[in-house]
Amino acid sequence: MEIRIYKDDVQIGKEAALLFASQILKKRDCVLGMATGSTPLPTYQELVRLHESGMLDFSEVRTFNLDEYVGIDRAREQSYYRFMFDNLFSKINIKPENVHVPHPVSANLSDDCAAYDAAIAEAGGIDLQILGIGHNGHIAFNEPSGVFSSGTHIVELTQSTIEANQRFFERIEDVPKKAMSMGIGSIMKAREILLIATGKQKAQAVKAMLRDAVSPACPASVLQFHHAATVFLDEGAASLL
Ligand code: GLP
Repeated sequence: MEIRIYKDDVQIGKEAALLFASQILKKRDCVLGMATGSTPLPTYQELVRLHESGMLDFSEVRTFNLDEYVGIDRAREQSYYRFMFDNLFSKINIKPENVHVPHPVSANLSDDCAAYDAAIAEAGGIDLQILGIGHNGHIAFNEPSGVFSSGTHIVELTQSTIEANQRFFERIEDVPKKAMSMGIGSIMKAREILLIATGKQKAQAVKAMLRDAVSPACPASVLQFHHAATVFLDEGAASLL
């Protein structure tokens, strides 16, 4: 695993966007795995800048997002679907039909999960997956547990994740308790992975991910087993290494 430490999140955004750019230049119709949260925002801003300056064409690119809350309307500001359009998709020339965000709405949510995995497989798998990390070491919405999950599944969010995400909602009671998330197996299938962590509040999770033994108690630690995983940290997130 390659670990790179940068001064701040702006510098990380620029470097991460370059990885995306080189992937798109190598393969115009590449499949990108996208993440939500505050961490990837500087990367998305830089991708928009590269697109606006005429350097990056997203017209053939396909995307699959990691996760989405269960029971939230896509039109709402807190939905991950809306987040992606507000912060990236509406600002680049990606085709709406090439964008995929989990959409847990069927009577049997496991049907939505199976259909999502099938769509990723049909697209040929993910070429480059971007990840953030939760305070408890979660990736996507794979919470600490006794086993690594495999495919896309429905997750019960932990109290720590609900509290971390309450900043996007008026009241903590409004934060959904469940989500649909790619599994650890789905994430590990990506040909290349970039995990970004910024800020001192992520230092403990970063230490557990990189320095502890691989364990589902820290889902992100599984990246130690990935053949092409890179981790970008700022000085705060790297402060306990
Ligand atoms: C959520 C998302 C994760 C994200 C994490 C960290 O729980 N499901 O994909 O990595 O939050 O978010 P942030 O980047 O805002 O710290």
